[in-house]
Amino acid sequence: MSNKSSAPARGLFIAFEGGDGAGKSTQVAMAQQWLEARGSQVVTTREPGGTQISEALRSLVLEHGHGEIDSRTEALIYSAARAAHVQQLIAPALNAGSHVICDRFVDSSLAYQGMGRALGFDAVAQINDFATDGLKPDVTIILDISAADGRARRVAAGGGVEAADRLEAEPDDFHERIRNAFLELAAGDPERYLVVDATLSVAEIHAAITTYLAGLL
Ligand code: TYD
Repeated sequence: MSNKSSAPARGLFIAFEGGDGAGKSTQVAMAQQWLEARGSQVVTTREPGGTQISEALRSLVLEHGHGEIDSRTEALIYSAARAAHVQQLIAPALNAGSHVICDRFVDSSLAYQGMGRALGFDAVAQINDFATDGLKPDVTIILDISAADGRARRVAAGGGVEAADRLEAEPDDFHERIRNAFLELAAGDPERYLVVDATLSVAEIHAAITTYLAGLL
Protein backbone atom coordinates (compact mmCIF):
# COMPACT_ATOMS: atom_id res chain seq x y z
CA MET A 1 0.00 0.00 0.00
CA SER A 2 1.43 3.36 -0.97
CA ASN A 3 1.50 6.12 1.57
CA LYS A 4 1.52 9.40 -0.30
CA SER A 5 0.69 11.62 2.64
CA SER A 6 3.43 12.90 4.90
CA ALA A 7 1.22 12.48 8.01
CA PRO A 8 3.16 10.86 10.85
CA ALA A 9 2.31 7.30 11.87
CA ARG A 10 -0.34 7.31 14.56
CA GLY A 11 1.06 6.95 18.07
CA LEU A 12 0.31 4.14 20.47
CA PHE A 13 -2.46 4.75 22.98
CA ILE A 14 -1.46 3.17 26.30
CA ALA A 15 -3.82 3.18 29.29
CA PHE A 16 -2.82 2.35 32.85
CA GLU A 17 -5.50 1.02 35.16
CA GLY A 18 -5.68 -0.36 38.67
CA GLY A 19 -7.18 0.15 42.07
CA ASP A 20 -6.38 3.10 44.31
CA GLY A 21 -2.89 2.64 45.75
CA ALA A 22 -1.64 0.36 42.96
CA GLY A 23 1.33 2.62 42.18
CA LYS A 24 0.19 3.75 38.75
CA SER A 25 1.69 7.21 38.84
CA THR A 26 5.19 5.86 39.49
CA GLN A 27 4.91 3.38 36.63
CA VAL A 28 3.36 5.94 34.28
CA ALA A 29 6.31 8.29 34.83
CA MET A 30 8.83 5.46 34.33
CA ALA A 31 7.12 4.25 31.16
CA GLN A 32 7.15 7.79 29.78
CA GLN A 33 10.89 8.12 30.45
CA TRP A 34 11.55 4.75 28.86
CA LEU A 35 9.64 5.64 25.70
CA GLU A 36 11.32 9.05 25.47
CA ALA A 37 14.74 7.44 25.87
CA ARG A 38 13.90 5.42 22.74
CA GLY A 39 13.33 8.67 20.88
CA SER A 40 9.53 8.74 20.97
CA GLN A 41 7.30 11.76 21.54
CA VAL A 42 5.08 11.01 24.53
CA VAL A 43 2.09 12.83 25.94
CA THR A 44 1.24 11.75 29.47
CA THR A 45 -2.11 12.61 30.91
CA ARG A 46 -4.66 11.42 33.46
CA GLU A 47 -8.35 10.93 34.03
CA PRO A 48 -10.47 12.51 35.13
CA GLY A 49 -8.57 15.55 33.86
CA GLY A 50 -6.15 16.56 31.14
CA THR A 51 -8.03 19.62 29.84
CA GLN A 52 -9.38 22.69 31.59
CA ILE A 53 -13.01 21.57 31.58
CA SER A 54 -12.03 17.99 32.48
CA GLU A 55 -9.99 19.19 35.46
CA ALA A 56 -12.98 21.26 36.61
CA LEU A 57 -15.18 18.16 36.33
CA ARG A 58 -12.51 16.23 38.24
CA SER A 59 -12.86 18.60 41.20
CA LEU A 60 -16.64 18.27 41.07
CA VAL A 61 -16.65 14.49 41.12
CA LEU A 62 -13.74 13.79 43.48
CA GLU A 63 -13.92 16.48 46.12
CA HIS A 64 -16.30 16.19 49.00
CA GLY A 65 -18.76 19.03 49.47
CA HIS A 66 -20.99 19.01 46.38
CA GLY A 67 -23.87 17.30 48.11
CA GLU A 68 -25.18 13.97 46.90
CA ILE A 69 -23.83 12.67 43.59
CA ASP A 70 -25.90 9.68 42.49
CA SER A 71 -24.28 6.90 40.46
CA ARG A 72 -25.66 7.90 37.05
CA THR A 73 -24.60 11.50 37.54
CA GLU A 74 -21.16 10.31 38.61
CA ALA A 75 -20.84 8.11 35.50
CA LEU A 76 -21.90 11.00 33.26
CA ILE A 77 -19.44 13.43 34.84
CA TYR A 78 -16.55 10.99 34.27
CA SER A 79 -17.64 10.41 30.69
CA ALA A 80 -18.11 14.14 30.02
CA ALA A 81 -14.59 14.79 31.29
CA ARG A 82 -13.41 11.98 29.00
CA ALA A 83 -15.18 13.37 25.93
CA ALA A 84 -13.32 16.67 26.24
CA HIS A 85 -10.08 14.84 26.97
CA VAL A 86 -10.32 12.66 23.86
CA GLN A 87 -11.36 15.47 21.53
CA GLN A 88 -9.03 18.18 22.77
CA LEU A 89 -5.94 16.24 23.76
CA ILE A 90 -5.72 12.48 23.20
CA ALA A 91 -6.91 12.14 19.59
CA PRO A 92 -4.92 15.15 18.31
CA ALA A 93 -1.74 13.88 20.01
CA LEU A 94 -2.12 10.37 18.56
CA ASN A 95 -2.80 11.80 15.11
CA ALA A 96 0.31 13.96 15.39
CA GLY A 97 2.35 10.78 15.97
CA SER A 98 2.87 10.99 19.75
CA HIS A 99 2.35 8.03 21.99
CA VAL A 100 -0.23 8.83 24.65
CA ILE A 101 -0.02 7.39 28.15
CA CYS A 102 -3.23 7.86 30.04
CA ASP A 103 -3.48 7.26 33.78
CA ARG A 104 -6.99 5.65 33.79
CA PHE A 105 -9.48 5.59 30.91
CA VAL A 106 -12.85 3.94 30.10
CA ASP A 107 -12.04 0.77 32.06
CA SER A 108 -12.00 2.83 35.25
CA SER A 109 -15.60 3.85 34.55
CA LEU A 110 -16.53 0.24 33.74
CA ALA A 111 -14.94 -0.91 36.99
CA TYR A 112 -15.87 1.91 39.40
CA GLN A 113 -19.25 2.98 38.03
CA GLY A 114 -20.20 -0.25 36.23
CA MET A 115 -19.27 -2.70 38.97
CA GLY A 116 -18.45 -0.56 42.04
CA ARG A 117 -21.67 1.46 41.72
CA ALA A 118 -23.51 -1.47 40.13
CA LEU A 119 -24.66 0.40 37.00
CA GLY A 120 -23.49 -2.57 34.91
CA PHE A 121 -20.83 -2.76 32.19
CA ASP A 122 -23.31 -2.29 29.32
CA ALA A 123 -24.84 1.03 30.37
CA VAL A 124 -21.46 2.50 31.23
CA ALA A 125 -19.91 1.19 28.00
CA GLN A 126 -22.68 2.88 25.99
CA ILE A 127 -22.20 6.36 27.38
CA ASN A 128 -18.45 5.97 27.02
CA ASP A 129 -18.68 4.87 23.38
CA PHE A 130 -20.50 8.13 22.77
CA ALA A 131 -17.99 10.13 24.84
CA THR A 132 -14.91 8.71 23.15
CA ASP A 133 -16.41 8.35 19.69
CA GLY A 134 -15.21 4.76 19.87
CA LEU A 135 -11.54 5.46 20.63
CA LYS A 136 -9.97 2.56 22.52
CA PRO A 137 -6.48 2.09 23.96
CA ASP A 138 -4.13 -0.07 21.89
CA VAL A 139 -2.97 -1.58 25.14
CA THR A 140 -4.16 -1.42 28.73
CA ILE A 141 -1.78 -2.17 31.57
CA ILE A 142 -3.50 -3.22 34.77
CA LEU A 143 -1.62 -2.97 38.04
CA ASP A 144 -3.44 -5.59 40.04
CA ILE A 145 -3.83 -5.01 43.77
CA SER A 146 -6.14 -6.38 46.46
CA ALA A 147 -8.37 -3.95 48.34
CA ALA A 148 -6.43 -4.51 51.57
CA ASP A 149 -3.01 -3.99 49.95
CA GLY A 150 -4.27 -0.87 48.15
CA ARG A 151 -5.57 0.60 51.39
CA ALA A 152 -2.31 -0.17 53.20
CA ARG A 153 -0.37 1.58 50.42
CA ARG A 154 -2.57 4.67 50.56
CA VAL A 155 -2.15 4.92 54.31
CA ALA A 156 1.63 4.40 54.06
CA ALA A 157 1.78 7.17 51.43
CA GLY A 158 0.15 9.58 53.86
CA GLY A 159 -3.36 9.23 52.43
CA GLY A 160 -5.24 8.28 55.58
CA VAL A 161 -9.00 8.24 56.01
CA GLU A 162 -9.25 12.05 56.22
CA ALA A 163 -7.23 12.50 53.01
CA ALA A 164 -9.34 10.01 51.01
CA ASP A 165 -11.30 11.39 48.04
CA ARG A 166 -14.92 10.33 47.43
CA LEU A 167 -13.96 7.07 45.74
CA GLU A 168 -11.01 6.15 47.94
CA ALA A 169 -13.27 6.54 50.98
CA GLU A 170 -15.41 3.58 49.86
CA PRO A 171 -15.12 0.34 51.90
CA ASP A 172 -12.95 -2.66 50.96
CA ASP A 173 -15.76 -4.63 49.32
CA PHE A 174 -16.22 -1.77 46.83
CA HIS A 175 -12.51 -1.87 46.00
CA GLU A 176 -12.61 -5.67 45.71
CA ARG A 177 -15.38 -5.34 43.09
CA ILE A 178 -13.17 -2.87 41.21
CA ARG A 179 -10.28 -5.30 41.22
CA ASN A 180 -12.43 -8.16 39.94
CA ALA A 181 -13.89 -5.93 37.23
CA PHE A 182 -10.42 -5.04 35.90
CA LEU A 183 -9.44 -8.72 35.87
CA GLU A 184 -12.66 -9.62 34.07
CA LEU A 185 -12.04 -6.96 31.41
CA ALA A 186 -8.50 -8.25 30.88
CA ALA A 187 -9.65 -11.87 30.66
CA GLY A 188 -12.22 -10.88 28.02
CA ASP A 189 -9.60 -9.39 25.66
CA PRO A 190 -6.19 -10.83 26.62
CA GLU A 191 -4.48 -9.55 23.44
CA ARG A 192 -4.92 -5.93 24.50
CA TYR A 193 -4.17 -6.25 28.22
CA LEU A 194 -1.13 -6.76 30.39
CA VAL A 195 -1.90 -7.61 34.01
CA VAL A 196 0.98 -7.05 36.43
CA ASP A 197 1.06 -7.96 40.13
CA ALA A 198 1.29 -4.53 41.81
CA THR A 199 2.95 -6.03 44.90
CA LEU A 200 6.14 -6.76 42.91
CA SER A 201 8.99 -4.27 43.27
CA VAL A 202 8.87 -1.01 41.29
CA ALA A 203 11.78 -2.27 39.13
CA GLU A 204 10.13 -5.63 38.46
CA ILE A 205 6.85 -4.02 37.43
CA HIS A 206 8.67 -1.57 35.15
CA ALA A 207 10.60 -4.45 33.55
CA ALA A 208 7.38 -6.37 32.85
CA ILE A 209 5.83 -3.27 31.28
CA THR A 210 8.81 -2.36 29.09
CA THR A 211 9.25 -5.94 27.90
CA TYR A 212 5.64 -5.90 26.82
CA LEU A 213 5.80 -2.47 25.18
CA ALA A 214 9.03 -3.35 23.35
CA GLY A 215 7.12 -6.18 21.72
CA LEU A 216 4.54 -3.72 20.40
CA LEU A 217 6.87 -1.01 19.07
P1 TYD B 1 -6.93 9.80 41.43
O1 TYD B 1 -6.51 10.63 42.58
O2 TYD B 1 -6.48 10.16 40.05
O3 TYD B 1 -6.67 8.30 41.77
P2 TYD B 1 -5.47 7.40 41.33
O4 TYD B 1 -4.21 8.12 41.69
O5 TYD B 1 -5.73 6.15 42.12
O6 TYD B 1 -5.65 7.20 39.85
O7 TYD B 1 -8.51 9.75 41.48
C1 TYD B 1 -9.25 9.18 40.53
C2 TYD B 1 -10.40 8.48 41.22
O8 TYD B 1 -11.54 8.50 40.37
C3 TYD B 1 -10.10 7.04 41.55
O9 TYD B 1 -10.63 6.72 42.82
C4 TYD B 1 -10.87 6.28 40.51
C5 TYD B 1 -12.00 7.18 40.18
N1 TYD B 1 -12.49 7.06 38.79
C6 TYD B 1 -13.76 6.56 38.55
O10 TYD B 1 -14.49 6.21 39.48
N2 TYD B 1 -14.22 6.49 37.26
C7 TYD B 1 -13.46 6.90 36.20
O11 TYD B 1 -13.90 6.82 35.03
C8 TYD B 1 -12.13 7.42 36.48
C9 TYD B 1 -11.27 7.89 35.35
C10 TYD B 1 -11.69 7.48 37.78
